[in-house]
Amino acid sequence: MPPLGNGRRVAIVAGVRTPFTKAGTAFKSISAIDLGKLCVAELIQRTDLSGKEVEALVFGTVIPSVVAPNIAREVALMPLLPKGVQAFTVSRACASANQAITDAADQIALGHVKVAIAGGAESLSNVPILHSAGFAEALVLASKAKTLTGRVKALSRIRPRDLVPITPAIAEPSTGETMGQSAEKMAKINQISREDQDQLALRSHRLAAAGTADGRLAREIMPVYVPPRFESVVTSDNGIRADTSYEQLSALKPVFDRRYGSVTAGNASPLTDGAACVLLMSEEATIALGYEPMGYIRSYAYAALDPGEQLLQAPVLAAPVALARARLTLDDMDLIEMHEAFAAQVLSNLRGFESKEWAARAGFSKPVGEVDLSRLNVMGGSIAIGHPFGATGSRIAVTLLNELARRDGQFGLMTVCAAGGMGFAMVVERDQ
Ligand SMILES: CC(C)(COP(=O)(O)OP(=O)(O)OC[C@H]1O[C@@H](n2cnc3c(N)ncnc32)[C@H](O)[C@@H]1OP(=O)(O)O)[C@@H](O)C(=O)NCCC(=O)NCCS
Repeated sequence: MPPLGNGRRVAIVAGVRTPFTKAGTAFKSISAIDLGKLCVAELIQRTDLSGKEVEALVFGTVIPSVVAPNIAREVALMPLLPKGVQAFTVSRACASANQAITDAADQIALGHVKVAIAGGAESLSNVPILHSAGFAEALVLASKAKTLTGRVKALSRIRPRDLVPITPAIAEPSTGETMGQSAEKMAKINQISREDQDQLALRSHRLAAAGTADGRLAREIMPVYVPPRFESVVTSDNGIRADTSYEQLSALKPVFDRRYGSVTAGNASPLTDGAACVLLMSEEATIALGYEPMGYIRSYAYAALDPGEQLLQAPVLAAPVALARARLTLDDMDLIEMHEAFAAQVLSNLRGFESKEWAARAGFSKPVGEVDLSRLNVMGGSIAIGHPFGATGSRIAVTLLNELARRDGQFGLMTVCAAGGMGFAMVVERDQ
């Protein structure tokens, strides 16, 4: 079944990730580049791959380093890989790792490369803090001044308001709306209750805690020894709350609409640090190099809508296209992994899947259908596990394929909503 084009099947051979840790905690001293390097090194070592087989490395990141914006190249310049590995960085907000995977897969389907590494990394502990235009202008003038008096004169232009730093906001540049405000809006439009959001968050934590305790989630996670002393080791996600309860969740105050809102710190994904990556190969390469793939990319699709409408609803437009390209339906899916940016978004996306109106907007006469909750995010999702923007897409692919194998399932669907009103869906398949 070769739907990606040119008759070449693209295999996902292996995948691994760092633990995901809440921003400002265990990984606060590790840059996204170093998280990416640690993850790729682990992938190469776990798969016993010779670095010289790797021809391309594609990485996603959402808030890049100003001094090293091509994170992919910085990651590729590691001792385990030859310097000739081509490497490029992609950005599609929270679907950036998905973009990295599909770009690398396209290169393989086109026959340009046979073996590639794709994934993403994010350090929300290390976001660049910018100077105001007034401060920056004064610094430039001072650096150009030829005399000490000229330098002092340039710097004397700085006013107290110029010293206020500018931090990147998780807001839409086109509308000014934050992600959280968008989730609030979607909850209201789709009539998603606070109770349903908190129940979904509780489910996410309970399932992620169970998946951690029984080792299913642990299998995709590498241990990270924390620099600079390397004395402590992080082996699991630190945002999962095994002991959270509906009572605790329902007591939290809304964050983004304090008076009438329903989105809280408990039913939103937390700001997170982490990296995740996968090894991709053409089917021929897996045979030639002797690898047993986890599965294959059967199809994928991206979609977008007006960010001023329902910012995180575009997976509803992407999923039917990916399913149609796979020539499959929701009923064929053994498992579904849906990125949980907010409980309100997950529940809105699920409603959208059942809606004829949304189906029509995607160009279909029938809705995607009702998702069987026993197949959805069976080891929790981003609300509990965390969400390093640039890495999540790769985490979801690996979680899905590992669990499909455990259940001896054949097909899995993953969806990711992203800033800018964008959405992603992919169907993966396993040979049984
Ligand atoms: C929602 C958000 C603002 C909360 O940030 P925060 O206030 O730093 O969150 P915290 O983890 O400190 O939680 C706040 C409180 O809720 C409590 N809490 C959070 N989750 C909880 C849970 N599951 N159970 C019980 N209590 C919980 C915390 O213990 C904390 O309590 P405290 O104030 O008594 O210490 C932040 O996580 C955010 O911006 N998330 C959205 C990110 C986003 O937009 N992503 C894009 C998606 S595509």
